[in-house]
Amino acid sequence: MTKPTIAIVYHSGYGHTAVVAEAVAEGARAAGAEVRLERIENAAQDFAPILKSVGEADAVIFGSPTYMGGVSAPFKAFADASSQAWFTSAWKDKLAAGFTNSLSLSGDKLSTLSYLSILAAQHSMVWVGTGLPPGASTGDVSIDGVNRLGSSLGVMTQSDNVAPDQSPGAGDRKTAHLFGERMAKAATRWKAGATAA
Ligand SMILES: Cc1cc2nc3c(=O)[nH]c(=O)nc-3n(C[C@H](O)[C@H](O)[C@H](O)COP(=O)(O)O)c2cc1C
Repeated sequence: MTKPTIAIVYHSGYGHTAVVAEAVAEGARAAGAEVRLERIENAAQDFAPILKSVGEADAVIFGSPTYMGGVSAPFKAFADASSQAWFTSAWKDKLAAGFTNSLSLSGDKLSTLSYLSILAAQHSMVWVGTGLPPGASTGDVSIDGVNRLGSSLGVMTQSDNVAPDQSPGAGDRKTAHLFGERMAKAATRWKAGATAA
């Protein structure tokens, strides 16, 4: 069976969300997916290469820092550019998922994940949540805890105002890794099912 291809489309202004994107990618690769890391650089760039990459992928993971309670402006510019794909339902029935990083423990990250899931729904994509129990249930909400922020819709991570190699912490990186694995396994099943259908 051929490997599923997962495109991780993300923006990171200061490098912290990029750390999360790379941990998601590592997890997805470990579980057998071919991963394309597609970093959005700025709102004015040509999005055609990223749109093409998403069009070729079996699954897409959207990632953005939470800025002012929502996705960053460069990510939103990408989302607006994706209207080209919307007109032809080009992304219909691809798997989709999302992650966001911000400074505060809450920081209104749910608003960002809500938007990412709505973007996927507008494209008739099929959304995959974290599938991870909250740290409050497993007994570890420390910096080393998996899903310490207790998010179901998508991955939430938190970073302090220090260099990206120091924060987000180990638990958040592990959460992102496990989420990447989950997405790769889901995409493998999805691709096999599509072939059978
Ligand atoms: C313009 C701007 C708006 C921000 N708004 C929020 C916010 O709403 N909630 C929050 O918790 N942090 C907020 N932050 C902090 C960032 O989410 C945090 O620094 C994050 O690590 C940035 O990720 P990045 O390094 O990938 O850009 C904001 C930062 C910037 C620059």
